[in-house]
Amino acid sequence: MSVIDYSQKIPNNVGLSEDRTLQRALEQWQPNFIRWWDDVGPEGSTDHEVYLRTAVGVDPQGWASFGHVKMRDYRWGIFLNPGDANRSIHFGDHKGERAWADVPGEHRANLRRIIVTQGDTEPASVEQQRHLGLTAPSLYDLRNLFQINVEEGRHLWAMVYLLHKHFGRDGREEAEALLERRSGDENNPRILGAFNEATPDWLSFFMFTYFTDRDGKFQLCALAESSFDPLARTTKFMLTEEAHHMFVGESGVGRVIQRTAQAMNELKSDDVARLRAAGVIDLPTIQRYLNFHYSVTIDLFGADQSSNAATFYSTGIKGRYEEGKRDDDHLLKDRTYKVLEAAGGQLVEKDVPMLNALNEVLRDDFIKDSVAGVGRWNKVLEKAGLPHRLTVPHKAFHRNIGALSGVKVSPEGRVVSDGEWAANVAHWLPSREDRAYVASLMGRVADPGRFANWIAPPVMGINRQPVDFDYVRFG
Ligand SMILES: [Fe+2]
Ligand SMILES: [Fe+2]
Repeated sequence: MSVIDYSQKIPNNVGLSEDRTLQRALEQWQPNFIRWWDDVGPEGSTDHEVYLRTAVGVDPQGWASFGHVKMRDYRWGIFLNPGDANRSIHFGDHKGERAWADVPGEHRANLRRIIVTQGDTEPASVEQQRHLGLTAPSLYDLRNLFQINVEEGRHLWAMVYLLHKHFGRDGREEAEALLERRSGDENNPRILGAFNEATPDWLSFFMFTYFTDRDGKFQLCALAESSFDPLARTTKFMLTEEAHHMFVGESGVGRVIQRTAQAMNELKSDDVARLRAAGVIDLPTIQRYLNFHYSVTIDLFGADQSSNAATFYSTGIKGRYEEGKRDDDHLLKDRTYKVLEAAGGQLVEKDVPMLNALNEVLRDDFIKDSVAGVGRWNKVLEKAGLPHRLTVPHKAFHRNIGALSGVKVSPEGRVVSDGEWAANVAHWLPSREDRAYVASLMGRVADPGRFANWIAPPVMGINRQPVDFDYVRFG
């Protein structure tokens, strides 16, 4: 099962050739996917040959091979982690029962909704990033962008396979709709807010892949616990690919900071105007980008109290992050959890039933994980001998979902008036001027081994290739 059959039109390890109806349906979807890729995938990239990794198996050792390919010819396929026929459900009301190989009728609507919502984020991010290739700061970075793009395309395939195989006609219609919605489109937008925001420049891209792809990691981890076994197995394999996306974000922001720190030391100054004159991105601007992407991303976890979250858990559709490692009863009926709300001009904690607070639980797990990486960015500043530090804003800052939406809160977590917010927002979130400045730095650097002035080179290349390798060959 772990060997991928590449002789097929659609590479897979799910025995697709044994199910002719399904195979035919997916082979009909395939040209629509390619049309979508041509329309809104990476701009002007058709003739590029890109040093990409392609999945060749689901064995954690040696699951990928590398080589120059045209992205259009990338072998998007359907890969599930090996199954365990004896797997049992380990949380919720069905705990102890055998995991589901197919969709139970009573959970069909909720499962479909979850799969469609996850599936929708995958093509959305490709659409958001489609112009970035034109301004990549190096061939190394360009290759990483394209790697992420093709893998998000494959993640769409992963969800579309589940829809086609397990949801009949509704599933096929949903699979078509996934190719029809467009990020940022007023009439037919992507489902979730953060996936309709623009990713206009490379600092945004690195922040997005650090924070928003990490949201993906946490959602996928929660789905990897699902009682619906095909969903658990497919999301587990997606996580293998996802790790690289977050690496691109973390190392990308780290390299921007490293270059800025170098300029600060050369100039012996943290004056924004002087640093901008030197063509690097000042730390306050980096902080504002961080504030933006962090706050928009934590909204993705949904309302802090949600009866849907309780239903998804109790019915066994969606677990918690690392459900299997937690030593509680995995039912959570009598437990409570603290959520925040604004009362009397202050943020106050309130105990609510934990089942209803599972979005908040996952959000808090995400926050812990993302704070750790910000600590590693600060190490770059520390190593450079600088006293400056980046921080994540308070989780109530700039929220648009749940009890905190509509409350104006400073990055430190103080409830502020509309007037104070308006007077300070340009210090807290990227201003038009910040974005214009960052945009002014963007321009394609296409010589192997050369890097734009605003970013440091990476420590090493991809797959042990040198940093000055020709990661992308322009056709
Ligand atoms: Fe993805
Ligand atoms: Fe991703």
